[in-house]
Amino acid sequence: MIIPELILFIILALIMVFFAGSIVFSTVKLGITPMPSSNKAYFAMMQLADETGNGTIIDLGSGWGNFVIRMAQKYPQRQIVGYELSYLPWLTSTLLKKVLGLKNLTLHRQDFYKADLSAASVLVCYLFPEAMGKINDKLRSDQADINFLISNNFALPSWQSSKTIRLDDFYKSPVYLYKIGKDELKL
Ligand SMILES: C[S@@+](CC[C@H](N)C(=O)[O-])C[C@H]1O[C@@H](n2cnc3c(N)ncnc32)[C@H](O)[C@@H]1O
Repeated sequence: MIIPELILFIILALIMVFFAGSIVFSTVKLGITPMPSSNKAYFAMMQLADETGNGTIIDLGSGWGNFVIRMAQKYPQRQIVGYELSYLPWLTSTLLKKVLGLKNLTLHRQDFYKADLSAASVLVCYLFPEAMGKINDKLRSDQADINFLISNNFALPSWQSSKTIRLDDFYKSPVYLYKIGKDELKL
């Protein structure tokens, strides 16, 4: 009797080691953990998204799905897309999407730098300064028809934000809304 229990314990332990290892691996490779935005940040991002029309919203690094799931529920008429490379967060968000029956939500396990973002009207992200620099360069060189970018906490170097919400937290953290057009370029 003790042998099957031991085998089950070993299998569960191996599964946990695999998932924990996959998070550590992705964090080291991508330079960021799958830490979700705070609730205050979500409300600010959703408030800013209200000002962006009805076009497709793409979350660059959708993590556990916290933002894209709320968006898909709030805007059933809008297409919401998430790109996420870290395996466990992507798997969790994909399962939640299925359980909740969110037909307007599409989740890709793919590197967003290599993705075709031409369907996007709005990009959303919670990343880090180096990633913002790369997205900035991609937006400057791409012909994609992107109208807005919403960023939690990190600024886009070449553009002047059209609106900034300061969160009611210790750092008064900013959440930026950018209009992505040549007229708004500051550099
Ligand atoms: C800080 S989390 C933000 C999650 C979610 N957007 C939110 O606001 O709650 C950033 C996510 O971006 C993902 N990520 C970073 N670089 C990526 C890339 N090049 N392609 C796909 N996902 C990426 C990370 O794995 C991580 O889950």
